[in-house]
Amino acid sequence: MLKKIFIVLVIVLIGIQFIRPSKNQTTEPQPNSADHLFQMPENLKTVMQKACLDCHSNNSRYPWYNNIQPVAFWMQLHVNKGKKKLNLDEFTNMPLRRQYHKLEEIAEEVKEGGMPLPSYTWTHKDAVLTEAEKNEIFAWTDSAKAVMERTYPKDSLIRKK
Ligand code: HEC
Repeated sequence: MLKKIFIVLVIVLIGIQFIRPSKNQTTEPQPNSADHLFQMPENLKTVMQKACLDCHSNNSRYPWYNNIQPVAFWMQLHVNKGKKKLNLDEFTNMPLRRQYHKLEEIAEEVKEGGMPLPSYTWTHKDAVLTEAEKNEIFAWTDSAKAVMERTYPKDSLIRKK
């Protein structure tokens, strides 16, 4: 009996190796990226790339073990979930209020250490943010918010109480 279960498991494990979830990758320009709301300094771009964009953009970098199932399913799930909540490549597509609120949430998540996800920093040690890197993120979200405040009336950014 155990032997049969083992054989079925092995067959399933081999079988799923042939399923390749589509990758989150594109070479298209991203005209609605957050960068267009407020230009990110090159330094910050590097920080976002290594710590956030694999799950919050239209372009993920994949490690070699993404070729192994069920790892690829698991990664696809994170990318899909992350993109649904925040896609920095489609940032300016969102209504103004939502953009403004997401800027606040980015700072909040980073401040509280919720992002990047712990499961990501285990395998991406360079994504653990230093204080200086966190401050670069805060400086950017503050500047982007300030630009929005100067450009749009207040009640288009924050819902009236
Ligand atoms: C490994 C993938 C991954 C990485 C890397 C990652 N995130 Fe996330 N992020 C997620 C997922 C998944 C969610 C959704 C969490 C949930 O629904 O509980 C999320 C949610 C968020 C949210 C919440 C949005 C909302 O509306 O609630 C913000 C803001 C955010 N991430 C910012 C960041 C920032 C900034 C970084 C880089 C410092 C980052 N994330 C790195 C996967 C990731």
